[in-house]
Amino acid sequence: MKIFVTRMIPQPGLDMLTKEFIVDINTSDRVLSKDEIIRALKGKDGLLCLLTDPIDKDVITAEPKLKMIASYAVGYDNIDVAAATKRGIPVSNTPGVLTETTAELAWALLFSVSRRIVEADKFTRSGQFKGWAPMLMLGQDVSQKTLGVIGTGRIGTAFALKSKGFNMNVLYTDEQPNRELEQQLGARRVPLQTLLKESDFISVHVPLTRETFHLIDEKELRLMKNTAVLINTARGPIIHEKALVKALSEQWIFGAGLDVYEEEPHLSEGLKGLDNVVLQPHTGSGTIETRTKMALMAAENMIIGLKGGVPPNCINKEVFKKKTIT
Ligand code: DGY
Repeated sequence: MKIFVTRMIPQPGLDMLTKEFIVDINTSDRVLSKDEIIRALKGKDGLLCLLTDPIDKDVITAEPKLKMIASYAVGYDNIDVAAATKRGIPVSNTPGVLTETTAELAWALLFSVSRRIVEADKFTRSGQFKGWAPMLMLGQDVSQKTLGVIGTGRIGTAFALKSKGFNMNVLYTDEQPNRELEQQLGARRVPLQTLLKESDFISVHVPLTRETFHLIDEKELRLMKNTAVLINTARGPIIHEKALVKALSEQWIFGAGLDVYEEEPHLSEGLKGLDNVVLQPHTGSGTIETRTKMALMAAENMIIGLKGGVPPNCINKEVFKKKTIT
């Protein structure tokens, strides 16, 4: 069988795949356009794609032989899963392996913003540091403050649990109560508005869906404390980026730490000129260990899926139910 891999991923994953299949890889280290993906899919049985690839209905229906899509990411808002399901194609993602890594990056951003690490580093390097000063680069304390976690799936839960050492008051929003957080941290499930008003640090951990698009807009930003720090390691469009630029420029909030953007890799006008925002290039899962685990997981899903089994991380298992019934 033949598969197409849309970009180089860590070698151990590619090695697993080349033992089983004829593997065609985009080695050009750039995001392919939709048309390029469609052309490359010709005659392929499997597609291993990334979160930057637009896997819409056109791509999914382009090649009749296509029977497995393995994504090298946990978020799959770039894939038309309904279209894949309709065609009976299993789609898999890479949950679990990147949970701690992404939660760690959210904390790194939280500290970078609250203690102005990036701004202070630039200041020191540029020779502006003339000695200790009582009012120099003052930030925000973290310990004993209120942490607001929007969405407590795997990553949100791991992020909240890491607050233990800082003895924080934890608020969260979720459709379901999170017993683990309630028992371990005394966390309280509250409406979003309460969380926004009461939290000192707010971290976004919901998937991007129709319901979460612009969940944080001007109205929500205005509810936050003027000392609040907002972190987003989930998906850019959950925050209305233009409204955030306004909030940061006019100091409605203290700062923000972003790993994701509304129209990646484009940044909204005015964002990069601000000192009270730390900008990371979507590297939430970006450690050597985790990216390797993601490659192995995506490869395993592809192999099992193309051999007719249920990929362990299949996100549209109904595809198999349908097959049994018919
Ligand atoms: C994912 O896998 O969805 C993450 O955004 C990668 O960093």
